[in-house]
Amino acid sequence: MTDLLELESQTLAAIDGAGDEAALEAVRVGALGKKGVISALLASLGKMSPDERKIQGAAINGLKDKVSEALAARKAALKAKAREAQLAAEAVDVTLPARVSGLETGRIHPITQVTDELTAIFVDMGFSIAEGPDIESDDYNFTKLNFPPSHPARDMHDTFFFPPDASGERKLLRTHTSPVQVRTMLAQKPPIRVVCPGRTYRSDADQTHTPMFHQVEGLVIDRTANLGQLKWVLEEFCKAFFEVPHVAMRFRPSFFPFTSPSMEVDIQCRRSGGEIRFGEGEDWLEILGCGMVHANVLRNCGLDPDVWQGYAWGLGIDRIAMLKYGMPDLRDFFEADIRWLDHYGFRPLDLPTLAGGLSG
Ligand code: DAH
Repeated sequence: MTDLLELESQTLAAIDGAGDEAALEAVRVGALGKKGVISALLASLGKMSPDERKIQGAAINGLKDKVSEALAARKAALKAKAREAQLAAEAVDVTLPARVSGLETGRIHPITQVTDELTAIFVDMGFSIAEGPDIESDDYNFTKLNFPPSHPARDMHDTFFFPPDASGERKLLRTHTSPVQVRTMLAQKPPIRVVCPGRTYRSDADQTHTPMFHQVEGLVIDRTANLGQLKWVLEEFCKAFFEVPHVAMRFRPSFFPFTSPSMEVDIQCRRSGGEIRFGEGEDWLEILGCGMVHANVLRNCGLDPDVWQGYAWGLGIDRIAMLKYGMPDLRDFFEADIRWLDHYGFRPLDLPTLAGGLSG
């Protein structure tokens, strides 16, 4: 006959000594499993005399209950310990500042932002985007745009010319985005409705001029294109771009070789301190040039001016970026100073849309 007290102290010690739930389960199986010691003792009760069974039955069942309790208590203790260890291992210091991802720290340059804003507005009005090369022929940059060969307007552009090539042709860095008008008319059949953003170059440098700058050109060619439509498009554009409910604009006669009539457009504003507000005030600020496409330009691009009419405009992207976002010096745009970009740049995932808000 097994010494029950001895068995009890051995089993309870084994339970106490089980270091994890697997070890504890092994002890349980050894004691109370099908082939366990205590199970065997219980099974032996059947072979005992009734008197003996009475005494032994109470003792063995008592042992079984004690062991079961000890198993349950140890199991709970091991679970709690395992959980504590897990919590300690996975502890998070919630007081630490959040780790900043590259996407968060990068900034969109104001030129890119404003170009995205412009194109969002014009695309919403049904315009397509057209692009042309920075290195342009004299023909597209000047001649086809109705600048006669020795016309003084060529000098006004402070052009960067390349040395003549073998055939004697002198390429240049385009002085405006207007050659993209020529390329578009030569490549597409009207009706045409395009805007052409891009880099432009002139040999000029001061607070509001840099040798490389950006323009966006607009061109509409249709049978009935007219000045009224041009004014509407520009007014709608200015309201959307400057995010004001109305703007007052002034169209002044001007001269460009490629438009007739030609106009410069001023927008009403108020200057106070270093700030400019649009849609109110007594001041006027020139923002773009525009006009009806000159008959010679249409003809140079293979369109019959008796059938087709067009209007066009050109505007400085850098200039309206400075106006809208209050940047005083154009040269800073190209200094690649990370502190400037942190201050004036835009968050990369806030894409400008008319529905979602342009400037976020
Ligand atoms: N190309 C002109 C410039 O750079 C701007 C301009 C004026 C473009 C009138 C146009 C226009 O399309 O119609 O000064």
